[in-house]
Amino acid sequence: MPLITVEPCTFALFGALGDLALRKLFPALYQLDQAGLLHADTRILALAREPGDEQQHLANIDSHLRRFVPAAELNETVVTRFQARLSYLHVDFLKADDYVALAERVGDAETMIAYFATPASVYGAICENLHSVNLTERTRAVLEKPIGHDLASSRTVNDAVAQFFPENRVYRIDHYLGKETVQNLIALRFANSLFETQWNQNHISHVEITVAEQVGIEGRWGYFDQAGQLRDMIQNHLLQLLCLIAMDPPSDLSADSIRDEKVKVLKALVPFTPERLATQVVRGQYIAGYSEGKAVPGYLEEENSNTQSDTETFVALRADIRNWRWAGVPFYLRTGKRMPQKLSQIVIHFKEPPHYIFAPEQRMQISNKLIIRLQPDEGISLQVMTKDQGLDKGMQLRSGPLKLDFSDTYRSARTPDAYERLLLEIMRGNQNLFVRKDEIESAWQWCDQLIAGWKKAGDAPKPYAAGSWGPMSSIALITRDGRSWYGDI
Ligand code: BG6
Repeated sequence: MPLITVEPCTFALFGALGDLALRKLFPALYQLDQAGLLHADTRILALAREPGDEQQHLANIDSHLRRFVPAAELNETVVTRFQARLSYLHVDFLKADDYVALAERVGDAETMIAYFATPASVYGAICENLHSVNLTERTRAVLEKPIGHDLASSRTVNDAVAQFFPENRVYRIDHYLGKETVQNLIALRFANSLFETQWNQNHISHVEITVAEQVGIEGRWGYFDQAGQLRDMIQNHLLQLLCLIAMDPPSDLSADSIRDEKVKVLKALVPFTPERLATQVVRGQYIAGYSEGKAVPGYLEEENSNTQSDTETFVALRADIRNWRWAGVPFYLRTGKRMPQKLSQIVIHFKEPPHYIFAPEQRMQISNKLIIRLQPDEGISLQVMTKDQGLDKGMQLRSGPLKLDFSDTYRSARTPDAYERLLLEIMRGNQNLFVRKDEIESAWQWCDQLIAGWKKAGDAPKPYAAGSWGPMSSIALITRDGRSWYGDI
């Protein structure tokens, strides 16, 4: 039996026939059902603009469910129970009249979750229309990213939503916050005094955050080209990881205590001057190359592409945080499409011992590293120095891992997808893993000045071959500081 209880709700999914809903949200809801974490009275309303036969749309959802839930995790009894919760309703999101039928379906359910898996441009209209049929009072609004493409547009969206929903009923999604290892950062940092006492500029020399994707654009060229890697990944996922690593200990685990600390970090990020922009930020765009041994096209040759685009598919940068804890400790962030492998990891590099007594040629190796792997193979390992074994070895040092591999340690438990955790927390009314308005706005503020700087400098992205770790200048960015990206081959 699950250790937590969840109240019943009506889960209204706007954009139910879109890619996100079909690939991620329905499978996540199914997994919650399978885990006994959906209340027996919970109903799911699939809402979409597509008219036509309800049964046909439900069959479409079902066939995607069977495709995206691994076969070994599909249980026909649960599928039948899940189908019984589900109904489809055609709603033109902009038409107030269509919400009357929605209100009838919701009936007197006490809690409604309105999940907006639609473009952010219609969030305001959905809220207003929900209000017109008295559905806002008992509702939690869930906003998918991207919320705007800069500070001004994100404010417009947030303000439109805020007219109908107070902040304590708004859940802004950043799916990285639902990943198990990301949540583990809080446990690792604040449940182990071993780390927390070392977690500052006295002991840490620098931090690396890499989120590399092996895939290219995968049919999303139109969307991606308007965004680029800075808006798509750094503004949200990488800055959230940076905040969880850099924030001060919150006074408790409440959503606001954690989010207050994250906002302080975002506000302390040093802005980019033109000089810093030239040496501490690299934009890249992939050209044709190889991925897993197969030839793959460049960004400008992908389906539906426009050959003139100067949108970046890669960003590496050095971020600095202006506070006592992190003064002088660079955070190197790097993310890109079409990299050699899918890899998300954080590496905390500790400083060398203050007095060195071993052979000079071994000096470079001497520093502990804490490696937090988000994907694949979630786990945490601490690289420590030991003496090599053997009579012929003398005091030869080697670096070896003290390792916590989540799949070995928690063998019986499957790693839930990030969306399962996030949907569960929304149903429980817990905002810990969601982004507050001021967080998202501070993150945009920092990114906006970076984008403005690029524009002013006319900075074109540097080419890198698909299947490589990015442009050469991203290596120069870190080697200039006498360091290298951890584990690059
Ligand atoms: C999304 C981005 O937010 O995150 C995508 O829009 C990206 O471009 C995806 O591919 C990466 O997520 P994950 O969980 O696969 O690392």
